[in-house]
Amino acid sequence: RSKDVPQRDLELEETPLELGGEQGRWEEERLRTAALSFGAKRERELGVRQEQERYQLILEEEEMIDFVSTQEEPTLSQADLKKQSIQEVRRSLPIFPFREDLLRAITQHQILVIEGETGSGKTTQIPQYLMEDVSLKLLLIRSGLPRRVAAMSVAARVAEETGVKLGNEVGYSIRFEDCTSERTVLKYMTDGMLLREFLTEPDLASYSVVIIDEAHERTLHTDILFGLIKDIARFRSDLKVLVASATLDTERFSCFFDDAPVFRIPGRRFPVDIFYTKAPEADYLEACVVSVLQIHVTQAPGDCLVFLTGQEEIEACCEMLQERCRRLGSKIAELVVLPIYANLPSDMQAKIFSPTPPGARKVVVATNIAETSLTIDGIIYVIDPGFCKQKSYNARTGMESLIVTPCSRASANQRAGRAGRVAAGKCFRLYTAWAFKHEMEETTIPEIQRTNLGNVVLLLKSLGINDLIHFDFMDPPPHETLVLALEQLYALGALNHLGELTKMGRRMAELPVDPMLSKMILASEQYKCSEEVLTIAAMLSVNNSIFYRPKDKVVHADNARMNFTVPGGDHLVLLNVYNQWVESGFSTQWCYENFIQFRSMRRARDVRDQLEGLMERIEVEVVSSLEDSVPIRKAITAGYFYHTARLSKGGYKTVKHQQTVYVHPNSSLFEEQPRWLIYHELVFTTKEFMRQVIEIDSGWLLEVAPHYYKSKELEDSSSKKMPRKQGKTKDELG
Ligand code: CDP
Ligand code: MG
Repeated sequence: RSKDVPQRDLELEETPLELGGEQGRWEEERLRTAALSFGAKRERELGVRQEQERYQLILEEEEMIDFVSTQEEPTLSQADLKKQSIQEVRRSLPIFPFREDLLRAITQHQILVIEGETGSGKTTQIPQYLMEDVSLKLLLIRSGLPRRVAAMSVAARVAEETGVKLGNEVGYSIRFEDCTSERTVLKYMTDGMLLREFLTEPDLASYSVVIIDEAHERTLHTDILFGLIKDIARFRSDLKVLVASATLDTERFSCFFDDAPVFRIPGRRFPVDIFYTKAPEADYLEACVVSVLQIHVTQAPGDCLVFLTGQEEIEACCEMLQERCRRLGSKIAELVVLPIYANLPSDMQAKIFSPTPPGARKVVVATNIAETSLTIDGIIYVIDPGFCKQKSYNARTGMESLIVTPCSRASANQRAGRAGRVAAGKCFRLYTAWAFKHEMEETTIPEIQRTNLGNVVLLLKSLGINDLIHFDFMDPPPHETLVLALEQLYALGALNHLGELTKMGRRMAELPVDPMLSKMILASEQYKCSEEVLTIAAMLSVNNSIFYRPKDKVVHADNARMNFTVPGGDHLVLLNVYNQWVESGFSTQWCYENFIQFRSMRRARDVRDQLEGLMERIEVEVVSSLEDSVPIRKAITAGYFYHTARLSKGGYKTVKHQQTVYVHPNSSLFEEQPRWLIYHELVFTTKEFMRQVIEIDSGWLLEVAPHYYKSKELEDSSSKKMPRKQGKTKDELG
């Protein structure tokens, strides 16, 4: 192995590790490697043009992308991708030489921050080292990861490495899915699930080690975990806390945990050449497709990783790639195109880890899940359009939306780093060097500062933490956001006027869903339609992946979708789809014939079963409203009265804040345009779209939220016109 590792990395490996605040030589070395990989500023064109000419010959009709490099040294070494056994892989990971040091450090310190390049082995190896260490007895490890996919795939990987069946000694627990048993000693879970464990076990008494993994992602739940775990570590001196992070800002973690030592696993990254486009790209999706093909025909072997922002984009990109490859046929080598995103079924996800067939090239089209959470071996080329989908929250209007925004420079560098794990790589950025320097933020803003806090406030309140203003936040959320969350919970009836949890609030917190959704479920009790509302809740949670719309059968798919239309709106359409599927006996064939995604349905069924199981605990009787949609829509309104929009002259406006919003073209109410709507969520793509809407009667708002709406603000524009007319007449008379 050492033969292929550049000299400077060997130096790194042999330098002894230093613990704690003293960074000394390590830090310097790391910075130097980073500089070699990214920092060189001098713009210089590589042999790109020559490669492009070759490419042009093959793909005549394609528009070329002009890349420039800011790199000083061109790539020299090639990928060495020989197949290794699992144990060989384990021993070859950067963390391996530090196994003993690491275990010693864990024994010596209660809280340890562990920093290492993505792919160095933190997530998969540290828990195994702990399990293998005989001096540690009765070990129960919980590892909180920010993403579902990561928790599942990592647990599967570790079960394989340790030679146990997944779900026995090694398991995972994610929302609506528990794959653990009595025997489980290592449980990978999402940070959200770990947070919920506090509800049943506020001191985490049964655990001996808690790992907060991927801490650098700074998700909302991770940030809350920091505060809670820091607190319990004070009185549980036997609890070991490990905070694992990529090489980003680990000093902050150390500082937050009262100067906990930082254990640095030296990186072993190969140089990555960075290319920028000469001019901004108008259509980054198209640019991605062209770049992949460009790489495929001009570059040496090695797999390719493309970063896009979400499922729809990823699917579109994969289709475009497959279509063009089909057109080119045998003119080009085989290209294996694989998508990866959070909602993708796990067997499909597993495919990205399978080895590339000889002579072919694999291209993985991913969300930023592949930035740090997942490591795919063999990636040499990265294509980075420079965007990500980010939640943003307007604390004034309470409006949460998903917006495609430029990613941060830290993200861009993480993405580029993915190309240099197994050999020297190349990263093609579909933006200009100028944009990188001047248009991108330095780091991503922690989620806690750009999201609705309703969920965590409810959770913290049920943990008895009443003074949220003085909670130990690493970065506190904006004051208005906290206040708004309290107001919303008050409006939902979860808190009383003193800000204390009500009985309703306590029941709401039992359900692992957002407060509005739990309120909807709880309200279904009163309207005697819990059967239907549970189904709707489950269908909403599998979100936008129910209807299948293949490019070559668009008309058939749209017709099939139309056939499910029922009056009242999208929630009822979802209910109809589910009920028909139940009638078909949960048939795969039925799904296929009706352009419904079977996997999404199966997941909806699992979610529904789980929710139904919880109904007993919160004492909601599961009954059916027998074909009448009004009670169902009232229950939805009881949870989502915040999300009301009214049709006025220029289109829809939200009731409280007069924000202009649009019905999504996929909605069953797109053409109908009823006067009053409740929407499930807002998504900003080209405009502010309401996704999943139902028609309501404005009178219901007074029924379900009398403390929130006044009858005056709900006067219909039609009835408003009348007094105005009268006024006019008076004027005329005057
Ligand atoms: O957590 P960190 O980014 O430091 O690394 P890791 O997730 O523990 O990954 C270590 C190595 O395990 C990767 O380089 C992959 O080779 C391998 N791995 C895998 O093959 N399949 C997975 N699902 C996860 C990791
Ligand atoms: Mg990791």
